[in-house]
Amino acid sequence: MLDEVVRLPVSKYTDEGLLEQEIASAFSQYPLIAGHASTLAEPGAYLTSDWDQFPYFVVRGEDGRVRAFYNQCRHRGARIAEAPAGTVKNFVCPFHGWVYGLDGALKGITRAHDFPGVNPCDYGLVELPATEAGGLIWVGRTPGAELDIPGFLGTFFEDLVNFDVASLIQYKKTKVVKEANWKLLIKTYLEGYHVPYLHRETLAAAFKRGVIAHDSDGPHIRLSAARTNIGECALKPEEEWRILDYASVYYTLFPNTFFILHPDYVSINTFWPLSPDRTIWTHEMLYRAEDFAGSAGQSSLEKRFRFTNDTVFDQEDFAIAEDVQRHLLHGGSDHHVLGLAEGLLSIFQNNIDERLAGPGETAGTSSTTRTTTGQHS
Ligand code: FES
Ligand SMILES: [Fe+2]
Repeated sequence: MLDEVVRLPVSKYTDEGLLEQEIASAFSQYPLIAGHASTLAEPGAYLTSDWDQFPYFVVRGEDGRVRAFYNQCRHRGARIAEAPAGTVKNFVCPFHGWVYGLDGALKGITRAHDFPGVNPCDYGLVELPATEAGGLIWVGRTPGAELDIPGFLGTFFEDLVNFDVASLIQYKKTKVVKEANWKLLIKTYLEGYHVPYLHRETLAAAFKRGVIAHDSDGPHIRLSAARTNIGECALKPEEEWRILDYASVYYTLFPNTFFILHPDYVSINTFWPLSPDRTIWTHEMLYRAEDFAGSAGQSSLEKRFRFTNDTVFDQEDFAIAEDVQRHLLHGGSDHHVLGLAEGLLSIFQNNIDERLAGPGETAGTSSTTRTTTGQHS
């Protein structure tokens, strides 16, 4: 993967100023994933942001369209949508009861006679760019901008369509704070080198050691890790090969989503920075209804979720990331050294660094966000 060993300064994970720059670029100028579209199945279904620095909610309107708004009342700024997700007919502000429609229009001012000259038409919720694409809900931070998700994702958009991500159902979503830098958490996914060691009791037996293919499109990365049964392919004609029977496919969708396609379920992990050493991690697990029918299906889903979320991610990958983070500030080495097989860590880091100072970029426009980094395989 890499032609030579790369040394990465540990300040990438501790520098307050760098995080501010990342938030101003990666987290502000590109579309962000709000969640899977199945959570907004019907008109009135909404979901709220996981990150207070960008307080939005997304709701499906009577017309079936998905819209996003600042989660902020136009009267005196109270939060409109309270729960992480729910279904409503209207949004009623908890402070003084102003009522907004699913299209963000201000439908009613309580004690309206106290607001002479205030026209409700001028006080609808502030709308943000939002769209549904590839089975996911996307939100942008710049009011008025257009989101072009196929342009943003490039060839990986076709993967979301071909894998029919839109037809999946959400099993569960969790949200917790991890005491580590957001990039350190994502990087735990980006190499297979650690699997036989850190995951020796859990994942190691499922994967073929070191057999990983990867490529990039713009700032996004795809990697496919061969499962131990991949040799069975040789016994079948190529037209019958289905990649998910023999491999797990992983994507970093720039900037902060790690998307995983396993043979029987899908995981969407997002990482929202709170400070250089604290990050909100959300994990949404999706499945295909026919794969997990009835109560036996539900209990096997629960088992998978506990294994992946609690054991592998939380107790292995992110526990070690927190451990690394804890020691970064206390001397020892001032850099990490990446071996040739850890190239994706370096590519991911470059994808963020290259865009730090990108002036004039706007959310999701293909010309600015699909800067080619070349194909890697
Ligand atoms: S702040 Fe919402 S009604 Fe007053
Ligand atoms: Fe891992």
